[in-house]
Amino acid sequence: MVSVPVAGSGRARRGEGEAMKAAIVTRFGSHWSIEIGEAPKPVPAAGELLVRVRAATVNRTDCGELRHPLIERLITRGQPRRTILGLDFAGEVEAVGDGVTAFAPGDRVFGMNPRSRPGAQADYICLPESGAVAAIPAAIPFDQAPVCEGAYYASGTINAFALGPGDEILIYGASGAIGAAAVQLARDRGARVVAVVDGQHVELTRRLGADRVIDRTTPEFTGMTERFGFVLDAVGKLPVRKWRRLLKPEGRFAVTDLGPWWQDAPFLLWSAIRRSPRVSVPLPARGSAPGFVRFLADRMAEGRFRAAVDRVYKLDEIAEAYRFVQTGQKAGIVVIEIPAG
Ligand SMILES: NC(=O)c1ccc[n+]([C@@H]2O[C@H](COP(=O)([O-])OP(=O)(O)OC[C@H]3O[C@@H](n4cnc5c(N)ncnc54)[C@H](OP(=O)(O)O)[C@@H]3O)[C@@H](O)[C@H]2O)c1
Repeated sequence: MVSVPVAGSGRARRGEGEAMKAAIVTRFGSHWSIEIGEAPKPVPAAGELLVRVRAATVNRTDCGELRHPLIERLITRGQPRRTILGLDFAGEVEAVGDGVTAFAPGDRVFGMNPRSRPGAQADYICLPESGAVAAIPAAIPFDQAPVCEGAYYASGTINAFALGPGDEILIYGASGAIGAAAVQLARDRGARVVAVVDGQHVELTRRLGADRVIDRTTPEFTGMTERFGFVLDAVGKLPVRKWRRLLKPEGRFAVTDLGPWWQDAPFLLWSAIRRSPRVSVPLPARGSAPGFVRFLADRMAEGRFRAAVDRVYKLDEIAEAYRFVQTGQKAGIVVIEIPAG
């Protein structure tokens, strides 16, 4: 078992001798560089919550952080590289620091752990009560609650498009974490959703509320002649010639990933130069994460947003979870279960 000092907190005080179980990055690279070990249990500083994590996820952002720690360091403005990853969490507040008023021990909470701190693939995290954290709606179990990250990035596009009743959006890759969330967020705003997925994910995507679901391997999609006002490529795999054919002349195209050949980069650049919204990678507004998590909690409580869970792994199996997520073939989220006590 590895035992590594936790890099990347900078704020939470250390656990005064207590240790916790965590998935530790022993060296950066791939799924083979994650090992289960011990790390200091954090102690909540003033204004912070200590959360006993019950469910986390492994997502594409974690995989990117594992593979490209230097890029991650730029994103987090020079913070030390983290040795515990994990953005999404769901768990129970175990203790609170001085001055905390919004939460109390025993509260069930979920949200997104700041990237500048040790991540949620561990028994415990500390995060500010003013951060991206909200109460889990009563009917939602822990393993259905760590859903924020994909939804947060999906909201960047759905909000930028300002979708509403009467609008129609085509979402390509609608079964991924971002795509599955985008389907629900677009429907929530009253837009009509045409979702494009692989045949094996047609039923799932229908259950998420898409108005029309198309198997991307069939002539219904390969020979499609309809045009749309809004197209989201939620996985960065749509060939340029295809999205240009799907888009109305005044339509808007968004993509979440530039793809292996950066095929959309020239179009993004041209739109940026012309100050046109036609092609974009819409990111959520800076500082909007806490409000977004509360928004999502309300939608989950009303049954208007739910997790699409592909696989559930134990913390001890997390390297295998990374391996699976790295294939780029998961549908929705991959959950890491962390049993209590
Ligand atoms: N912009 C940002 O800030 C940001 C943030 C996070 C992630 N990302 C990026 O956004 C992308 C999507 O993230 P995610 O977490 O939603 O991904 P994900 O959950 O890993 O997406 C998996 C889905 O991609 C689809 N897919 C796989 N290969 C495909 C292919 N050749 N053609 C069409 N679809 C294919 C599959 O759906 P079907 O089998 O049903 O087709 C699968 O369900 C990733 O590239 C990620 O790096 C961007």
